[in-house]
Amino acid sequence: MLAGATVRLSGAGVDSARLDAGLILGAVLGMDRATLLAENTRRLSGQEIARFEALLARRLERRPLAQVLGHREFWSLDFLVTEATLDPRPDSETLVEAVLAARQGNPPARLLDLGTGTGCLLLSLLSEWRGAWGLGLDRSPEAAKVAARNASRLGLASRAAIVVADWSSGLRGTFDVVVANPPYIPEADLAGLAPEVARFEPRTALVAGADGLDDYRRIARALPELLAPGGLVGLEVGSGQAGAVAELLSAEGLLVSGTVRDLAMVERVVLAKKRLANTPISH
Ligand SMILES: C[S@@+](CC[C@H](N)C(=O)[O-])C[C@H]1O[C@@H](n2cnc3c(N)ncnc32)[C@H](O)[C@@H]1O
Repeated sequence: MLAGATVRLSGAGVDSARLDAGLILGAVLGMDRATLLAENTRRLSGQEIARFEALLARRLERRPLAQVLGHREFWSLDFLVTEATLDPRPDSETLVEAVLAARQGNPPARLLDLGTGTGCLLLSLLSEWRGAWGLGLDRSPEAAKVAARNASRLGLASRAAIVVADWSSGLRGTFDVVVANPPYIPEADLAGLAPEVARFEPRTALVAGADGLDDYRRIARALPELLAPGGLVGLEVGSGQAGAVAELLSAEGLLVSGTVRDLAMVERVVLAKKRLANTPISH
């Protein structure tokens, strides 16, 4: 079964064919990869074969593996993933790591995640900052539902609120930490991306105008009012966008404190702070 599925997935252009075949079969049989290999002489029932073929067919059409399996791991936590949510990327763990490091010894009380999707950024941070309360918002009601379910499944619902909103319009109050991984793909680049992304991930989670910066512009304008004095913002950025995003934040009077690279050495995160009320602006 595994060998045959691997050949079919390779033929469909899936790079990680062997791995994906194993993960799909493991999901059908409720086994991890080690058990699966150890049980390689087991005969599958007709029902198991039918279930395997159904999931495999979805992956063969190049649907992302996380959508096929219905969940994925991020920050060592298990997140439900649907067609309405971006599949959380390992790159985004760089943002979680960066804001945790920037607030080490100074955990926030109130946290905001703009464009929460599965809730992966908000909920990972709340799992680390045990005394914090957080708000995740998304324009997509379907994504917001998934984030709310993830909050419950992870036992974080009492410290997380999920709302449907167009960025921060309608929000009142300030936050000690704001994070966002907004859409950042330039319109014209979408068609050139892998079919998993271009055909199956929600377009509204991906594309942000002609230069990919439209949503950073809107978010940057809102940040001075959203951040508490001394508050921190961490934004995930696309490859080559860090400089432009840092400029947008500076133009709003925020102090850019640095950028952080991901494991592929791409500048992936821009960090900035709102001045404390009594810090003079230097010229
Ligand atoms: C790149 S995805 C990030 C999802 C999640 N935070 C993550 O890191 O995996 C961007 C998210 O922003 C949401 N979004 C796009 N435009 C928005 C808007 N104007 N207001 C609120 N959310 C928006 C999308 O629905 C999507 O869930």
